[in-house]
Amino acid sequence: MLIRRMDINDLERVVSLEQQLFSSSWSYADFLYELLENDFSFNYVIEKDGFIVGYIGVWFMYEQAQITTIGVDPCYQRQGLGKEMMETVMEIAQRNQCETMSLEVRVSNFKAISLYESLGFHKEAIRKNYYQDNQEDAYLMIKRLEESM
Ligand SMILES: CC(C)(COP(=O)(O)OP(=O)(O)OC[C@H]1O[C@@H](n2cnc3c(N)ncnc32)[C@H](O)[C@@H]1OP(=O)(O)O)[C@@H](O)C(=O)NCCC(=O)NCCS
Repeated sequence: MLIRRMDINDLERVVSLEQQLFSSSWSYADFLYELLENDFSFNYVIEKDGFIVGYIGVWFMYEQAQITTIGVDPCYQRQGLGKEMMETVMEIAQRNQCETMSLEVRVSNFKAISLYESLGFHKEAIRKNYYQDNQEDAYLMIKRLEESM
């Protein structure tokens, strides 16, 4: 198992996973912007046996880190890979002097909420009608990084 920075050659596989995992997905161009244009954006893939089975994106914005996306191939879910990627970016965030990490998650996404709560994130607020595809609410979830690291 290997976690490494995402590069352009990974995008076809990442976008295909993204389309499989999300009802409203980021396009190739969206990821390309993150890799090439957005200086705050750091993106990683996780490989098993040389094959990409998941990915995570985070913005490091001074003292705040924000998870932008995380996904694991359905065939490889519930094997600890999502947690492994989250822990990796939390460590990198701490090394970058980030004090908090935040994210938004659909209120119905119990798998992801459970993952984040297992890592010490708490529900800070509800963002009403946050998702454009079905007007679903989001939880804003936050973790203070120095608490347990
Ligand atoms: C959310 C997601 C990334 C989790 O990845 P994963 O590799 O399956 O998660 P892990 O195996 O590391 O699970 C870690 C913890 O998360 C929770 N969890 C993960 N999947 C769960 C499930 N199906 N049911 C209940 N809890 C779950 C558990 O607490 C789990 O710990 P445990 O297995 O010791 O009980 C994955 O389900 C996914 O890609 N979902 C679709 C995309 C998505 O919704 N991303 C989040 C957007 S905010």
